[in-house]
Amino acid sequence: MKELIVLAYSGGLDTSVAIKWIQEKYGFDVVTMTLDLGQGSDFKLIEEKALKLGAVRHYSIDSKEEFANEYISRAIKANALYEGKYPLSTALSRPLISKKLVEIAWKEGAVGVAHGSTGKGNDQVRFEVTVRALDPSLRIIAPIREWGLSRHEEMEYARRHGIPLSEELGKTFSVDKNLWGRSVEGGPLEDPSVEPPEGAFEWTRAPWDAPDSPAYVEIGFDGGLPVSLNGERKGLVDLISELNALAGSHGVGRIDHLEDRLVGIKSREVYECPAALTIIEAHEDLEKAVLTRHELEFKQMVDSAWSRLVYNGLWVDPLREDLEGFIERTQERVSGIVKMKLYKGSASVVGRSSRFSLYDIGLATYGVETTFDQRLSEGFVEIWGLASKVANAVRRRASGTGA
Ligand code: ARG
Repeated sequence: MKELIVLAYSGGLDTSVAIKWIQEKYGFDVVTMTLDLGQGSDFKLIEEKALKLGAVRHYSIDSKEEFANEYISRAIKANALYEGKYPLSTALSRPLISKKLVEIAWKEGAVGVAHGSTGKGNDQVRFEVTVRALDPSLRIIAPIREWGLSRHEEMEYARRHGIPLSEELGKTFSVDKNLWGRSVEGGPLEDPSVEPPEGAFEWTRAPWDAPDSPAYVEIGFDGGLPVSLNGERKGLVDLISELNALAGSHGVGRIDHLEDRLVGIKSREVYECPAALTIIEAHEDLEKAVLTRHELEFKQMVDSAWSRLVYNGLWVDPLREDLEGFIERTQERVSGIVKMKLYKGSASVVGRSSRFSLYDIGLATYGVETTFDQRLSEGFVEIWGLASKVANAVRRRASGTGA
């Protein structure tokens, strides 16, 4: 019996060619695995295709719940936006896919795993760092990175091996999608000076074609996670799917990002993340109500460190859990309701309330009923500005412009 390799299989051209390539070049048998992460593929069709191309077995695993509850949920609590823009949709999925690859490799007694990433991106890093941390004895094969075939040669190879190309021919973009978002790369998007064509978008209506009347949605949070929409309790998977549809129909979620990849390349990335952007906007706003200014200032640093770590493929580093220790502690109070207005491409907070809110109308009001004693501010302002006053006086003296 031949030794086995478990391949993360999407059903697309690259990983289809990889099945044949691993069999031919290495003489391994290939077991394929596809996770349902909410990308809306036809998993039956993918399985048939894998087996037809010679996979000895195929695993189709519904991982939506695990993805939402163990990965997306942490990103929500961390307001995760890499470089302030990208909700990490692809980045979050890689450590989960890697974990499943390793589990199936164990179950099958396979000698290694394989993925379809190129040598230019972040995904190779995310897959391999995770697999190596979970089981350093597994061999890792990256056919696309190794083979150095041009697109044209790849198509030729596919034709020679009876790999169906019909779906590939009309494709302009390279797409990766899951519950948390859709990423689009390549083709006309490679010129960062040019506006993305409408054809790049599938989940969002063009903001200028979105309905003229706004939609309001109240997102209920409990312990830092969204748990209801307009008062109706929902599991995370359903809540995210519904928000993707609703916010997307109002043109919310488009992102055009000049992104810094780990490998040093700047790349123009286009995303559609209607639910992610709406939820993070709401979550961040609720935090502003319930956390002190000191907690907020520090949490921003922690959040951005978390996002960078995960983007850069280090999900398995202990630092992630260390940072989450702080984040988790702050989330106990992030409970309440945030009212969002979805309108022609924007998701804005128009109201928030929480039993933990630190907002005190007695302190804030300009009405007569205030509890804030303005006389106390006089001395406060004097002392607050003292260091700066002294520094300015010294600078004047030193430059000879008098005291
Ligand atoms: N630039 C994003 C990231 O590194 C998206 C990558 C999309 N991957 C893909 N295979 N199309 O997370």
